[in-house]
Amino acid sequence: MTPATASDASTLARDFDLRHLSPAFYADPYPVYHALRTHEPVKRMPDGSLFLTRFRDVQAVYRDPKTFSSDKTVEFKPKYGDSPLYTHHTTSLVFNDPPRHTRVRKLIAGALTARAIAAMEPGLIRLVDGLLDAAAVRGRIDLIGEFASAIPVEIIGNLLDVPHAEREPLRDWSLAILGALEPSLTDAQLERGSRAVSEFVEYLRDLVGQRRREPGDPQHDVLTRLIQGEAGGEQLSEAELLQNCIFILNAGHETTTNLIGNGLVTLTDWPEQRAALLREPSLIESAIEECLRFESSNQLGNRMATVDTEIGGVAVARGTPVTLCIGAANRDPEQFAEPDRFDIHRDPNRHLAFGFGIHQCAGLSLARLEARIAIGRFVQRFPAYRLDGEPTRGGRVRFRGFAVVPVELEPSSAG
Ligand code: HEM
Repeated sequence: MTPATASDASTLARDFDLRHLSPAFYADPYPVYHALRTHEPVKRMPDGSLFLTRFRDVQAVYRDPKTFSSDKTVEFKPKYGDSPLYTHHTTSLVFNDPPRHTRVRKLIAGALTARAIAAMEPGLIRLVDGLLDAAAVRGRIDLIGEFASAIPVEIIGNLLDVPHAEREPLRDWSLAILGALEPSLTDAQLERGSRAVSEFVEYLRDLVGQRRREPGDPQHDVLTRLIQGEAGGEQLSEAELLQNCIFILNAGHETTTNLIGNGLVTLTDWPEQRAALLREPSLIESAIEECLRFESSNQLGNRMATVDTEIGGVAVARGTPVTLCIGAANRDPEQFAEPDRFDIHRDPNRHLAFGFGIHQCAGLSLARLEARIAIGRFVQRFPAYRLDGEPTRGGRVRFRGFAVVPVELEPSSAG
């Protein structure tokens, strides 16, 4: 859906409301993002919040956490009331400002060092190759359910050392909790999200109790690290500990699943790019950056103005919620030449898929590693894989990805 004329584009921009989106938008939001960037780059929505689509505006807001706060204690009250979802989201580091943010961030970052991540690579390769072997036997698979989603659940489970037999509910809890961050929600979604937080907390209480009795290696085990706190420094409260464990388990799930799924689907849409990757497997690193830019799995970020200020020349009153559209910023022609072209050679490619500034994704090296191994090995193993029916979208605006993607792995050349 590309607007035929400039006035169509200006109508698209004028009518845009994040709370009322059409099915066409979920399929392809980029024409709307382009229209907004051209006609109303700092768009005021009916609820009074602002929606940003220019790279430079989004980056400027990320860069200034004093003026643009991440704290959601006020903003989330009407949405979540006193529910477990409210406690969870307002206690997670991503929705806290310094100094609360800083102490949790330090503990997590300390366990996600380059060395700790490199040590995960051999196990990750074994996991991916095992999934590829099983897929080869079947011939046709659902790329999401039988490949992409199986990888992060293991990796994040390992990071907190969650016993294998106990990992099954993690994905559904995570989908229910993150799903409740969508701009508009039904009562059933709210209820499901709150129930998931309660069950998750109950589960983690036991796990934390066991880990207190038998600590793991804090160099690798994020849970032990969070429990022990900094040497001679402060410790996290029980609520901070439990809610941030939930956040880490969630943060690395759907986003990474979607990166792998979006990347493999995009490569089927751009056969000459897939051929280039097959000819030159060392392009995998820049290919992953392009997948992150082109179909950013986390499309939206949020901040709130703490003082009267301005964005891109538009006056912004204190207390105004601001939505940062990563998906639009990553298609801004001012930053990326021919932004709607998927180009695995793109260099430089300074996208905002992981955010920017003090809250920039703490798991970005891990996500990159997972995608590199998963997408790289899948493409080399099944060079001719193709879609075997229409993929089903996940139906979310914040977390962009597919729910189901049927693929045929080794189509005969006649097909
Ligand atoms: C493709 C995969 C991923 C994407 C696109 C992604 C994206 C993001 C973004 C955009 C933010 C910034 C939010 C903000 O500033 O408002 C963020 C924060 C965060 N992410 Fe990721 N993420 C991914 C994978 C992961 C993984 C695998 C982990 C865990 C190991 C993780 C852990 C975190 C944490 C802890 C934060 C909060 C950082 C802070 O507030 O200081 N993410 N992520």
